[in-house]
Amino acid sequence: MPATEHAIFKPGAATTTRAVALLRAGLPIGLPTETVYGLAADACDDKAVARIFEMKGRPTFNPLIIHTASAEMAERFVDFPEAARTLARHFWPGPLTLVLPRKPDCPVSLLASAGLDTLAIRVPAHPAARDILTAFGGPLAAPSANRSGHVSPTTAWHVVEELPVALVVDGGACTVGVESTIVGFEGTTPLLLRPGGVAAEDIEAVLEQRLARRAVNDAINAPGQLNSHYAPNAGVRLDAADVAADEALLAYGPPLTGAALTLNLSPAGDLAEAAANLFAMLRALDHPGISGIAVMPVPETGLGQAINDRLRRAAAPREGRT
Ligand code: TXA
Ligand code: MG
Repeated sequence: MPATEHAIFKPGAATTTRAVALLRAGLPIGLPTETVYGLAADACDDKAVARIFEMKGRPTFNPLIIHTASAEMAERFVDFPEAARTLARHFWPGPLTLVLPRKPDCPVSLLASAGLDTLAIRVPAHPAARDILTAFGGPLAAPSANRSGHVSPTTAWHVVEELPVALVVDGGACTVGVESTIVGFEGTTPLLLRPGGVAAEDIEAVLEQRLARRAVNDAINAPGQLNSHYAPNAGVRLDAADVAADEALLAYGPPLTGAALTLNLSPAGDLAEAAANLFAMLRALDHPGISGIAVMPVPETGLGQAINDRLRRAAAPREGRT
């Protein structure tokens, strides 16, 4: 049964104490980050990590992102090649996840990384997340706090609507709004595994090198399994050039007219604003009374790559979705 508003707590010393007590007891909490809300638990506790998979209904072959309070803490768990160090210096704290080799004595639960010899790791920028990570003093595994396959949460309310958590720290609406960009390495070659909150172009500018493109699904040897994701209950139709009277419209720029219900990702065509609005608007348009959600085209540059990646998965066929 979903929790209620009584599970939502404003950030502050009392909330941090309560959150850390739950984490130490092996219970997951709702954690605000600048990208999306996470379902966070002690990354070194197998049982706590198992609870995350269970609460989300997430397949255990899909590994989780590990969050630390600092790059120094991350260094205890993984090896950093030179390029990774450069990226961490530029983009941490922030919406960048690095997939790096686990150190031999890395104490992070193998369940969290699905038995892989790498860890996906990041240092979030949200002050409430940093507070709790610092007070907890260890790494937290945190996937997005939604049921597996559904739309990611960008407010504390979205979390309590679908997961039975005892506590969500209310960090306000997420400012980035799409998940972190994931970068891995094949030897010394950097790979873009998932477009996200840091534009690929900005990473390429720092590395002075192009990122090779590789879907995260190939990297975890589960091709196609997770193609349908971020999906509202209503069907999603992309690149809409027209809209039916019984459809909801997700607009970008000057909107099409005639829809039953319209929300605009960014009337002025600002991609950062559109990313911040994406998941909340998909949820808000997801009405039983509409035949589907029509989405206007979004440019494939900068944060547009992350937005279009999420929209394509929201629109993907749902057979066999987990
Ligand atoms: O912004 C974010 O990254 C949010 C917030 C909460 O930090 N977290 C998030 O986690 O998006 P999640 O679990 O929804 O997505 C994690 C992604 C999955 O696609 C997973 O397959 C990939 O990271 N991943 C995790 N560990 C990996 C590894 N060792 N190698 C390759 N991919 C990995
Ligand atoms: Mg997710």
